[in-house]
Amino acid sequence: MDDAKATGIFDQVSDRKRILAEIRFWVRILKEHALFIQLGLPCNRPDLIAEAGRFYDLFQGLQDQVECVAVVDQALLAELVRAVEALIAFKHSLLRLMVQCELPGANLYPLLLAHITREAIHFLEFLRGIAMASDPLVAILAEQSFWLRQMKEHIEFIIGLLDPSEKELLAQAHATRVEFSNLLETARDLESMALSRPQTFNAVIRFTETLLERVTELRNFKATAYELAVLCRLLSALPTPLLLDHVRREADKFLDELREMLRDLTRWEGCPRQKQ
Ligand SMILES: [Fe+2]
Ligand SMILES: [Fe+2]
Repeated sequence: MDDAKATGIFDQVSDRKRILAEIRFWVRILKEHALFIQLGLPCNRPDLIAEAGRFYDLFQGLQDQVECVAVVDQALLAELVRAVEALIAFKHSLLRLMVQCELPGANLYPLLLAHITREAIHFLEFLRGIAMASDPLVAILAEQSFWLRQMKEHIEFIIGLLDPSEKELLAQAHATRVEFSNLLETARDLESMALSRPQTFNAVIRFTETLLERVTELRNFKATAYELAVLCRLLSALPTPLLLDHVRREADKFLDELREMLRDLTRWEGCPRQKQ
């Protein structure tokens, strides 16, 4: 097997295990996106339903592969890039049809398509090794903004899918949406301040600690909603309870990244960062 260093992605991040975990996480996520699309397409478009099914099978095959390898070689990396690019093009083509009102009967929000396309693009950027901005602090805040936007939209999708009679859960979700909207705004503000390349920026540490608390609460909310849905104790228009488990896993991924960010940020605290 070729040494994957030749691909370039390991030049930036030395921990191969972490890279493999990242790839495994996203391949499963993208496979599930294909399923959610398939479940939401109208029955008079068997061509698109079949195409979504082919993407599900493609990513299932890739998942089987990445689960079995210790390192991603160039051939597999190229295969992943091709598959993700094709899925992005498919998602974009569906989104285009939806905003042009040419996919009547679809049970998919246009914003859901935009949301899952954004996730695929995020993964593609990672695969291409351009995910990290040149300044590590800006990169952290950009990553926080990305995930906060995804988390805010998750809540919006949950609100849109809960049965109107689920008043208590809806009230909780609405309050959480306001909270995450504000957090997203703050992350974007901090990101623009970080462009001034401060030597220390300890307010970001406090913000990251707050995020750890809020995202943990949101993660638990999603986990509880998933359990309720699986037990058929939740009234909703969810296509499958898997959607709630999917968004819970994305919150857990964000939490893992936040813990790592906090470790980096506290390491920098008090010792001025090297200017790049
Ligand atoms: Fe997703
Ligand atoms: Fe998501």
